[in-house]
Amino acid sequence: MQKITIAVDGYSSTGKSTIAKQLAKALEYIYVDTGAMYRAVTLFAMRNGFIGADGQNTSALVQLLPKAHLKFKYNEEMGYSEMYLNGENVEKEIRSLAVSQQVSKVSAIEEVRYKLVDMQKEIGKEKGIVMDGRDIGTVVFPDAELKIFMTASPETRAFRRYKELLGKGEKVSYSEVLKNVQERDYLDSHREFSPLRRAADAIKFDNSDMGLEEQFERIYNYALRVIEKQ
Ligand code: DC
Repeated sequence: MQKITIAVDGYSSTGKSTIAKQLAKALEYIYVDTGAMYRAVTLFAMRNGFIGADGQNTSALVQLLPKAHLKFKYNEEMGYSEMYLNGENVEKEIRSLAVSQQVSKVSAIEEVRYKLVDMQKEIGKEKGIVMDGRDIGTVVFPDAELKIFMTASPETRAFRRYKELLGKGEKVSYSEVLKNVQERDYLDSHREFSPLRRAADAIKFDNSDMGLEEQFERIYNYALRVIEKQ
């Protein structure tokens, strides 16, 4: 059966990656979390002192960018890919609130986007891929056969993220997480280069009042319908 490209875009903490991962598994496709790539570059910038509480040094980061080597490695035991930065597994660190608080600034840098979009195009060139992010259906794969745009209310998303961070042992408050979600929504959709927006041909999918099972079933059925038509 002909393989297709599936783009899953949307606001932060809409559960895009959970659904995209399940979908890739069911279809035996490759799953790519592009947010992990922006997060890894952000961690690289933080570690090198290019970004932090006292501002950012974009030109220094851009200059050193070729030294940020990103790689996804499949973890057999867990059943998903993990992000490696210069050979180090940074999967846990890139999900911290500290990285979340800086990532929108780093992902607004044109050169960062060029580098990562090129990598994403290369990874997905054979199709048979489910890629999640913010600009997959608009910039990375504008010809994707199926595009989903996930939304949910900021409060729903913040609560989901809050529970997730608590579960990982991070000491955070709900209001801090909500503030981060709202700030990222604003920055992600107002940046100059490939801002977050729904592609005209993407299916808008609001999952505020929907459980995981129902979400998966609906999206899986969309995918099967598109694949059958190929
Ligand atoms: O999906 P996420 O929350 O892990 O993404 C982290 C940040 O990376 C998000 O605030 C916006 C940015 N991002 C982006 O600009 N483009 C993408 N394709 C994926 C993520």
